[in-house]
Amino acid sequence: MRIQVIFGILLIFTQAAMGLLFQDPVVCRFNERSQCYVALGQRLHLKMPLEDTFNLKITDKTSTTRTILKYRKTQSNPPKPNDPRWQFVKDDKTMILTSAERSDSGTYTLDTYDANGNNKDIYTLQLNIEAEVSSVKMWYSCLSPGVMKVYCSADGDNLRFNWSSDLNTCLQLENGTSTVVLNKNHHLNVTCHVENHVSCDHNTTELHPCPGESFSLFLAKTGKYLKKKK
Ligand SMILES: *[C@@H]1O[C@H](CO)[C@@H](O)[C@H](O)[C@H]1NC(C)=O
Ligand SMILES: *[C@@H]1O[C@H](CO)[C@@H](O)[C@H](O)[C@H]1NC(C)=O
Ligand SMILES: *[C@@H]1O[C@H](CO)[C@@H](O)[C@H](O)[C@H]1NC(C)=O
Ligand SMILES: *[C@@H]1O[C@H](CO)[C@@H](O)[C@H](O)[C@H]1NC(C)=O
Repeated sequence: MRIQVIFGILLIFTQAAMGLLFQDPVVCRFNERSQCYVALGQRLHLKMPLEDTFNLKITDKTSTTRTILKYRKTQSNPPKPNDPRWQFVKDDKTMILTSAERSDSGTYTLDTYDANGNNKDIYTLQLNIEAEVSSVKMWYSCLSPGVMKVYCSADGDNLRFNWSSDLNTCLQLENGTSTVVLNKNHHLNVTCHVENHVSCDHNTTELHPCPGESFSLFLAKTGKYLKKKK
């Protein structure tokens, strides 16, 4: 019992460190959301609705449809999935995928039948497998005096970028792009946040004023000083 608790805490801790947005395993249901996101390599539990008879099919990205499981309540032996990557647990009607791969992405359709074999409901679920955000890297260059361009890159699928800085109110940092141009001389920390549907990560870099700019800044300051003196 005690060991289980410790293990549970460790698991939560590891996921927080990796920036995963969902718990492991991810639990998806046909009757809740029509979209389901799972990180590459993560475990998935796909809960079936409580129906007497159903066929589970997948239509993958190449529009190929194949049957994964045929379930009949009257069967004495639990059915075996046609795809060795999946396991079926009869007791709680759950399909288990131990380690999600990109090829598992697709539209899953569940055709259900009543006791007489007549068509009942059709459920669909879009399963999307994404690689987690990793290796967020930042660098910047000076385009011309006073204009700096900050770059951000990361690994992972369907990345969205988002910027912030310790001077957020004075800066127009753009959301959604992996580069941002700053038109003023800055010495500050800029953070690039990267996320997709399954995880998020960030990195921070300290911007130092571009060389030419410190000179023009000096001139500007001197100009002001001279004006004041007049
Ligand atoms: C942040 O970016 C720097 C430089 O691009 C890189 O060396 C470092 O590993 C990154 N840190 C993380 C936590 O990704
Ligand atoms: C943008 O970044 C902030 C952190 O400053 C984060 O909390 C938020 O979820 C991000 N939003 C989007 C849409 O990326
Ligand atoms: C960027 O997105 C964050 C969070 O969604 C928001 O708080 C911020 O105002 C946005 N910044 C800009 C410049 O649109
Ligand atoms: C940037 O962040 C580092 C670490 O927190 C800090 O030491 C440094 O003073 C910051 N730089 C600026 C210009 O705020």
